[in-house]
Amino acid sequence: MTTPDLSSGVSTAAAVDEAAALATFRTMWDQLGAIGVHPTGTRRYSWTDEDAALRRWFTDQAASRGMTVHTDPNGNIRAWWGEPADGAVATGSHLDSVADGGKWDGPLGVLLGFLAVDALAAAEARGNLVRARPLAVVDYMDEEGTRFGVACLGSKLMSGALDPETARALTDGDGVTLAAAMTAAGADPQAIGRDEVALAQTGAQVEVHIEQGKQLVGLAAPVGLATAIWPHGRWEFTFTGLADHAGTARLADRRDAALPFAATVLAARGAAQDLDARATFGRFHVEPGGPNVVPAKVVALLDARAATDAVLADLVDRIGRAARDAAGDHGVEVTVREISRAPVVDFDEGLRDLHGKLAAEAGERLPEIPTQAGHDSGILAAELPTSMLFVRSPHGISHSPLEDAADADVLAGLRALVRSLAVLVAAPQDGPPVTGRND
Ligand code: GLV
Ligand code: MN
Ligand code: MN
Repeated sequence: MTTPDLSSGVSTAAAVDEAAALATFRTMWDQLGAIGVHPTGTRRYSWTDEDAALRRWFTDQAASRGMTVHTDPNGNIRAWWGEPADGAVATGSHLDSVADGGKWDGPLGVLLGFLAVDALAAAEARGNLVRARPLAVVDYMDEEGTRFGVACLGSKLMSGALDPETARALTDGDGVTLAAAMTAAGADPQAIGRDEVALAQTGAQVEVHIEQGKQLVGLAAPVGLATAIWPHGRWEFTFTGLADHAGTARLADRRDAALPFAATVLAARGAAQDLDARATFGRFHVEPGGPNVVPAKVVALLDARAATDAVLADLVDRIGRAARDAAGDHGVEVTVREISRAPVVDFDEGLRDLHGKLAAEAGERLPEIPTQAGHDSGILAAELPTSMLFVRSPHGISHSPLEDAADADVLAGLRALVRSLAVLVAAPQDGPPVTGRND
C-alpha cells in the first residue's frame, strides 16, 4: 500500500496566485461575516434563518465557480467541482458556530476549500493538472452541537455513529426537536441516517481548521498536521433537590441542588488536573431560577476529554462519584446520562505521509500535533481516510470572538491544502485516492 505518486508536476499544479487568493478571501469573508454576527460574537445555529443564509452564501459561492450544489439527507451541503462520483476527494469544514463564538472555527476550512478550487481550476486551464476525480467542498451540518447538544450531528448521522431516532428526538433550549426544526426549515427528518451514497462519494477528506490552542505558536509554524483527536464526550448531570424559601428555610433543612453541583464543578477541575485531561461544565441551568428560591434542580452538561479512552472513562467516573458523594451530603438526588462519546481518532497515515512529503518537497514546515478538539473529519475517520491541517491562531483562543489568524498563515494553509488536493484529484480512478498504513 502506498500513497499516490508525487508527480513532478505537483509544484506547477499547486501554484497559488496568493494576491488574488487573498483578495477573494477578503470578499468572501466580508459577505460571510454579515451573517449571524452580533456585538458579543457569532451565533450560527443549525436549521435557523442564519443557517439558511449561510447555505445561500455557500450556494452562491459554488454557482460563481460553476459548481453544482447537493444537500444530502443529513443536511450536509456539497459544492461539486466535476460530476458527483464515488471516490471523490472532499475538503471543507462547517459554517455553524458555538454560542457567541468567533468567525474562524469552521468557516476557514470552507473558504479555503473554495479557494483551492480556484487554484486547481487555474492549473487545469494552464494544462498543469489532469483531474481524474471530482472534488467536493463540504459544509457539515451542526458541527458544534450548540443547538441540540450533540456535536458533529451531520457527520455522525452520515456515518451511522448516531441513531436517527435518537437524533430526531434531540431538543434545543426551547424544547424544539431536531425533527421539528428540520421540518420547519424545509428538510425531511425521516430521511436522516447513515448515508451510503455520501460515504462512497467521499474517497478521502482533507479539512483545514484554525488551530484551537497554542501548539503552533510554540513551534513557530504557520501550519500543522493533526495526528490524533483526544476521545471526548458530553454527559448530562441532573441534581434534584427541593425548592424552599431563601429566607425562612434553615440551612440545615435545605436540599439545595446548587451545592452538590458546585462541588462537582470543583471536583471535575481537580480530576482533570490529576489526569492531565479536560473537564468543563459550560452549560447549566437552575430551576426554578428564582433569586429568592432555594434551587430545586440543576441540569448541567459536562464536556470531558482525555488522551486515551481509558483515562476519559476514569475521568468521568471520578466526576460521577464526586457528584454522588456531594449529592448525598446535601440530601439531593443525582443522575448522570451519557449524551455522546467519540473515541480516540488517529488520522489516516497515508494522507499524513502525503502532506508531510509534499511539505518537505516545497521546503515548508509541517509539524505534527495532536488536538483536544472534535471535528467532522474525526468522526468520518472511522469510515474513510481523513486528515486535518491546522492554521496557527496567534493567541490560541478559540470558541470566542477573539479567534484570529494572520493572512500569511491563511495562505500557508491554502498552499498546503492545494498541494495535497492537486495530488489527490489526479490519483487514478481505478483505486482509492489514497491508501496507507491505516488500511
Ligand atoms: C468542537 O469545536 C469541539 O471540540 O467541541
Ligand atoms: Mn470546528
Ligand atoms: Mn468548534
